[in-house]
Amino acid sequence: MVRRRYINRPVKAGIILVNNPVKELYLMSHSSDDTISLGRKIGELAMPGDIFLLSGVLGAGKTCLTQGIAYGLGIDEYTHSPSFVLVRELYGRLTLYHMDLYRLDNIEEIAELGLDDYLYGKGICAIEWANKGMPLFPDEHLSIEIVYKGDTERQFLFKAYGQRYLELLEKIENQTE
Ligand SMILES: Nc1ncnc2c1ncn2[C@@H]1O[C@H](COP(=O)(O)OP(=O)(O)OP(=O)(O)O)[C@@H](O)[C@H]1O
Ligand SMILES: [Mg+2]
Repeated sequence: MVRRRYINRPVKAGIILVNNPVKELYLMSHSSDDTISLGRKIGELAMPGDIFLLSGVLGAGKTCLTQGIAYGLGIDEYTHSPSFVLVRELYGRLTLYHMDLYRLDNIEEIAELGLDDYLYGKGICAIEWANKGMPLFPDEHLSIEIVYKGDTERQFLFKAYGQRYLELLEKIENQTE
């Protein structure tokens, strides 16, 4: 895993800048194993209530990263894409709610799912195609955009919104150097 670029915008005392990320981090993955290792690290560092919003084209690696997050939470199960059930619950050190909004056409459909119990609960939410439902999600979250760069090359752009995710991203950065 190679760190590519780093931007750090410190949070002003007592103010959380909800519309602008407080930190961004770019990482490059050169294989699915790299992506799983990155996910595993995130899973190990995850805390109750964490929200990971994943975006990127078909086959970018959203499920692959989520598999790693599951491993990091001590879940052995294979985390195939939950397209047909929309939410899969996987049980480890913390419960992982793995969601996939791909098949939903509009924000009303997503709102009707009533995701708040998951979003404001004590588990971890990893949401594929989160870009389809952004206004429904809490302002504080970790945004993970995956950019397809080639057969095995993927660029990960992390954006931390809120103090919790700033701290998480700093740990991810320190542990992937
Ligand atoms: N560096 C990489 N990171 C992640 N996946 C990679 C990488 N290189 C190759 N791959 C392959 O790309 C595919 C990623 O599939 P994955 O199901 O994770 O994508 P996805 O973003 O969840 O797609 P979808 O939108 O269809 O759910 C896998 O077959 C994986 O092995
Ligand atoms: Mg997927």
